[in-house]
Amino acid sequence: MPANREEERTMKDRTATPFLSDIQEIRRRAREHVEKGAVTSAYKGDVETAIKLLNEALATEIVCTLRYRRHHYMAAGIHYQAIADEFMQHAVEEQQHADWIAERIRQLGGAPDFNPEGLLTRSHAQYAEGNSLVDMIKEDLIAERIAIESYLDMIRYFGDNDPTSRRLVEKVLEQEEEHADDMATLLERFDKEPGEGTKQRMR
Ligand SMILES: [Fe+2]
Ligand SMILES: [Fe+2]
Repeated sequence: MPANREEERTMKDRTATPFLSDIQEIRRRAREHVEKGAVTSAYKGDVETAIKLLNEALATEIVCTLRYRRHHYMAAGIHYQAIADEFMQHAVEEQQHADWIAERIRQLGGAPDFNPEGLLTRSHAQYAEGNSLVDMIKEDLIAERIAIESYLDMIRYFGDNDPTSRRLVEKVLEQEEEHADDMATLLERFDKEPGEGTKQRMR
């Protein structure tokens, strides 16, 4: 029990902390636009732009999945099984990235764009088939480097305005850098063995 009025007032001040009223305000605002799902009024980003950028990332991932899958089957056909396996591992990881990104687009109230029409236009990375094993590896490295650059831009764009999208793209970026490193390592190997990997050309 407070010993005097002075002490009573101090206790009241302590209980009326601004953070408590903030929580009530947050709860009120959360109820206001329930249909917006995970996007609350504390979201500082531009949702439309975020969805557009993430759809470009989604297209990039789909194109990368398709390219690595083709490379997997082509490399296996010319008896480079270990490299074919690595292509498939990347294809599976690119698909996982696409799913993470599609999920985030939904959270933001958007629709993930899986339309094959215009896929290459939306994608930042290209779909290059490659005429030899070395060509395929080079094309994959180029595509990874494009993805790395555009994801770095997206990370800067999301910044503190959309930390969830930023962290998602950071997680994807980390794997793209590993992919690029894997491809660079393979290329070095073929540099040391000239002719190897370029001999068998594909249609
Ligand atoms: Fe990816
Ligand atoms: Fe990748």
